[in-house]
Amino acid sequence: MKFEQDKIKIGDIPVAELAAKYGTPLYVYDEQKIRDNYRRAVATFKKYYPDFRMFYAVKCCNNPAIVNILRQEGAGADCASVNEILLAKSVGITGENIMFSGNFLSDEDLRQGIETGAVINLDDESLFPRLLKFGVPEVISFRVNPGYGKSNVGEYVTNAGPKAKFGIHPDKVTTAFRMAKEAGVKRFGVHMMTGSCITDADYFPFVTKLLMEIVCKTSKELGIDFEFIDLGGGLGIPYEPGEASLDLEAAAKKTAEVFKSFVEQYGMKPPRLEMEPARYFVGNAGYVIGRVHAVKESYTKIVGTDVGMNVLVRPAFYGSYHHIYVDGKENEPRETMGLCGQLCENTDYWVKERSLPASLGPGDLIVVENAGAYGFGMSYQYNGRLRAAEVLVNGSEATVIRDRETFDDMVNHTHVPDRLKK
Ligand SMILES: Cc1ncc(COP(=O)(O)O)c(C=O)c1O
Repeated sequence: MKFEQDKIKIGDIPVAELAAKYGTPLYVYDEQKIRDNYRRAVATFKKYYPDFRMFYAVKCCNNPAIVNILRQEGAGADCASVNEILLAKSVGITGENIMFSGNFLSDEDLRQGIETGAVINLDDESLFPRLLKFGVPEVISFRVNPGYGKSNVGEYVTNAGPKAKFGIHPDKVTTAFRMAKEAGVKRFGVHMMTGSCITDADYFPFVTKLLMEIVCKTSKELGIDFEFIDLGGGLGIPYEPGEASLDLEAAAKKTAEVFKSFVEQYGMKPPRLEMEPARYFVGNAGYVIGRVHAVKESYTKIVGTDVGMNVLVRPAFYGSYHHIYVDGKENEPRETMGLCGQLCENTDYWVKERSLPASLGPGDLIVVENAGAYGFGMSYQYNGRLRAAEVLVNGSEATVIRDRETFDDMVNHTHVPDRLKK
């Protein structure tokens, strides 16, 4: 995003042009920014551990065009469901370039998962005997809960530690891999995903140490090599103005140092180091353009827009902050006011107090920043407010990568019994 005087552009296209052509609310992604984010992250980790690989967590922004960008850049895919695997395969990511990290999977999930040829990453040892019903996998990974996790929004996206539902307790990790070894599995990997949006560089070496303490003992006790060790995602981005960015260089350097020191200490065959971030690649490359419909002077001043929690749920879900810019008015005098969407829910009043241009009024365009991660994918149709369109910008070229929903999309797949039609 850039300013020309006070006019906002995404890539080289004015947001006013995008809004006029495609309507609002509108998700817009900057392709070059995604590519830059990915390249920076991979290059930094590879510098300190050359046998390094990134998997993109598809759940974060699952538009096939976006997944294709990351495939072109060389990413594998981390998938949470069989449908995400099918999506990854549809854009050409196949076999062991897909990691299937589901949670509380059904037998059908396991059967289909193994059929796709993806690497299965089990969230509990109890799933392993169930998986065997569908064959002995060539390679298996287990997700470990190393006992600690954190995030930028408290427990909401803290995915490890005693209060998280994910992963295997450290005491059971050896049992899980023993089961797999005895069943005839030949190749092993291990995984953790401890939390999202961490901007503290020291966090990554810290949790790597916790994981390595667990898995190195398992490796030694069972005499197995780990082909890969996946540290999960979690590379954070700043959301609030003035918030510090993640020092990626320090995170990569210190993480690789910890990793290598364990590999050396335990005389392990050096595993491939993997990560599966998502927010870091797409978060700051995505925006929501919205329009102001009305301004209400009630107990407080409230600006009503078409960007509600149906469009971007994170503020209502997690209390997360998203910065809002106003096209053409950023240099005007400011005033404290609230801002909301159009839903019949008060959680839709997602900005209670914010300093915004005092003249903000009907017809103005707002640009919500950092909406690329867990934005569109979490949007929904409540109140008959249909999902937004998605547009990909590459320099001066804009392409619709998902059509705006229509009424037919809302009622599609519903059925009314004949007796109710009389
Ligand atoms: C298993 C798994 N891996 C990776 C990610 C990506 O996390 P992030 O966007 O914080 O990098 C997630 C996100 O929830 C996840 O559940």
